[in-house]
Amino acid sequence: MYLLLLLTLTLFPLVMWCQRTDGSCLISNMKVFKNNVVFTLPGLSRCTKHICRNGKIEVYEHACDFEGQCYLANSTFQLRCIVYKCMVQMMPLARRTQVALLENNCIDMFGQCHKPGARFPVHKDGITYGSCTCKTDLTGNRINVCKTICEIDGKVYAENQTFERDGKPCMKYVCDHGTARVIEAGCLFKNKCYPPGEVINNQCKQFKCVQKDNSGYLTFEIEYFQASCMDDKGVCRSPGEIFPYKQYKRCECGVKGMVISLSCLS
Ligand SMILES: *[C@@H]1O[C@H](CO)[C@@H](O)[C@H](O)[C@H]1NC(C)=O
Ligand SMILES: *[C@@H]1O[C@H](CO)[C@@H](O)[C@H](O)[C@H]1NC(C)=O
Repeated sequence: MYLLLLLTLTLFPLVMWCQRTDGSCLISNMKVFKNNVVFTLPGLSRCTKHICRNGKIEVYEHACDFEGQCYLANSTFQLRCIVYKCMVQMMPLARRTQVALLENNCIDMFGQCHKPGARFPVHKDGITYGSCTCKTDLTGNRINVCKTICEIDGKVYAENQTFERDGKPCMKYVCDHGTARVIEAGCLFKNKCYPPGEVINNQCKQFKCVQKDNSGYLTFEIEYFQASCMDDKGVCRSPGEIFPYKQYKRCECGVKGMVISLSCLS
């Protein structure tokens, strides 16, 4: 359905004009326009262009004057996610320009347009709402209806409620205006959570909790970091260190990647 927004009635030029032998046009305020020159007529819409053709003034181009801009007849244009069309109706002594509203869409926090029913994030009063839907209000305007509850992985969480996902106990989230916001992140190792960057010692082997960015989706994984040798008392010995081991007096710890070796002299 069309919604008429702006109507401009333009009467055909009532200005006097006069045909001259060289094909130029003279209008009432004594202005002369040469043959084939395009101009606007004083007192009429600045968006309607006229042309002088062999001494006669003709309409060259119809356009709608809308919010300080001219839009050509029959063109569609978009302003703040609303699509309009400039329509011109010819009448016996006048023409009517009207700007019709074709499509009314919602605008998101990035300035992107969304059709009714679409879901997208919105930034409002300093708060980011993760899940808003484009709807129509009682007056026909498009509005963003934003959720404050979180619907995640098929479950519903209230605002400020904390929760886990995918059975990962080291990742904690809070429901923040429709979005799951990470509040605690880390790696699980032997039933304990470790924050990213922390080195974990386990039987002279060291592991690290590493944060990885898989194209915007953060994961936290345990990675092998480095190893050392373990002597017969359970003490960790660094690579290159010499120490007694069982019946041997001098053993040297050697580490290559994940392979640990002891070279001993009796
Ligand atoms: C606009 O479209 C109508 C109907 O399709 C057509 O008759 C008219 O000539 C068009 N006007 C312009 C200026 O293109
Ligand atoms: C959620 O927490 C914030 C900050 O602690 C608080 O200002 C807000 O009122 C809380 N909202 C609800 C619905 O409990």
